Amino acid sequence: MRKLKIGVIGAGSISELHFQSYLQNNDVEIYAVCDLNEQRAQDKMKKYNAETYYTNYHDLLNDPQVDAVSICTWNNSHAEISIAALDAGKHVLVEKPLCKTVDEALRVEEAVKNNGKVFQIGFVRRYASNTKVLKSFINSGDLGEIYYAKASNLRRLGNPGGWFADNERSGGGPLIDLGVHIIDLCWYLMGKPKVKSVTGNTYSKLGNRSNIKNLTFYQAADYDPDINKVEDLSNALIRFENGASLVVDVSYTLHIKKDETSIQLFGEKGGAEIEPELLIVTEKNDTIINSQPQVDSLAFDFNQAFQNEIDDFIKCCKGEALTLSPVEDGIELMKILCGIYESSEKGKEISFENLKHRIQKA
Ligand SMILES: NC(=O)c1ccc[n+]([C@@H]2O[C@H](COP(=O)([O-])OP(=O)(O)OC[C@H]3O[C@@H](n4cnc5c(N)ncnc54)[C@H](O)[C@@H]3O)[C@@H](O)[C@H]2O)c1
Repeated sequence: MRKLKIGVIGAGSISELHFQSYLQNNDVEIYAVCDLNEQRAQDKMKKYNAETYYTNYHDLLNDPQVDAVSICTWNNSHAEISIAALDAGKHVLVEKPLCKTVDEALRVEEAVKNNGKVFQIGFVRRYASNTKVLKSFINSGDLGEIYYAKASNLRRLGNPGGWFADNERSGGGPLIDLGVHIIDLCWYLMGKPKVKSVTGNTYSKLGNRSNIKNLTFYQAADYDPDINKVEDLSNALIRFENGASLVVDVSYTLHIKKDETSIQLFGEKGGAEIEPELLIVTEKNDTIINSQPQVDSLAFDFNQAFQNEIDDFIKCCKGEALTLSPVEDGIELMKILCGIYESSEKGKEISFENLKHRIQKA
């Protein structure tokens, strides 16, 4: 069978993980690269032995050789490129978040329906091995009904700057960038319950703290200390129709002793942690038991998760599976994220029944 020809659009930091994972997949060939930055596109083309490169994504999509694309661009172009790619008859793997607004998400869904191509969102945490193990315990009823989840991803110093710090291109700060991962993971593990309402707060109290010395932190390639147009902290309470609730907080910077990531789920029969490490809490013979599955990686293994995500995408393209992270789930996540931003702006809880989508100009 002919190998699928892949085009990668957006050749920045995260594209590395896409390229590396495609490289390990025997059913594909890395065929084309596209980036607004010509040098970057050319460098990646050479590094991954691709056949050609483009600086305009329309040209890549017009290339009939391309079967499928990874979209690894700034958030403001995810919807536009996804729709164009689907309309051009390509299978699409788009990075998280799906886009910036609910309206955009609905337009992507329309294109998915019209074109019948594979459309997968890069909710990479769903594909992690420790998530798969926990999901199997949940599916076999070990936690019972999950009624509460709690997730934190708090960076004390970590606004990546560049486009991440520019609301127009990113759609927001840590909530849309980091919150999307942990909210999605909890929601997915809770069995994707219907959202009833969200309430949240965002704060821009500390700025990007480019003044801090003697402490290194990740910076985007185009870091600019003067770009600082996103929140630096967000928290939220998400209520579900089945009575369950999810509490979240995320930051790019905060006066906290050290970075903290924790994700916990609580059910009627047991509980679980997936961050910082997989752990299951149950009760047996009137005794509480903390049990640790014996697996290669109890923690989130980024490279393995990406490999699983890309391998699954290719299986879907070959018609051998249905995607684990479809467009409908991306729409729900956009409703939650935009609902939290709207709640913060209005200072009140947003009911999903009459959610007025926060519209942003893409
Ligand atoms: N899954 C994850 O864990 C994860 C981690 C990091 C980033 N991401 C997501 O990946 C995407 C890219 O993030 P990044 O960290 O690689 O950013 P980056 O700035 O390193 O790279 C983005 C690249 O896209 C290019 N680009 C932007 N708009 C373009 C367009 N219209 N056409 C062609 N090229 C375009 C830029 O020139 C840049 O080279 C974002 O959506 C981000 O949220 C996901």
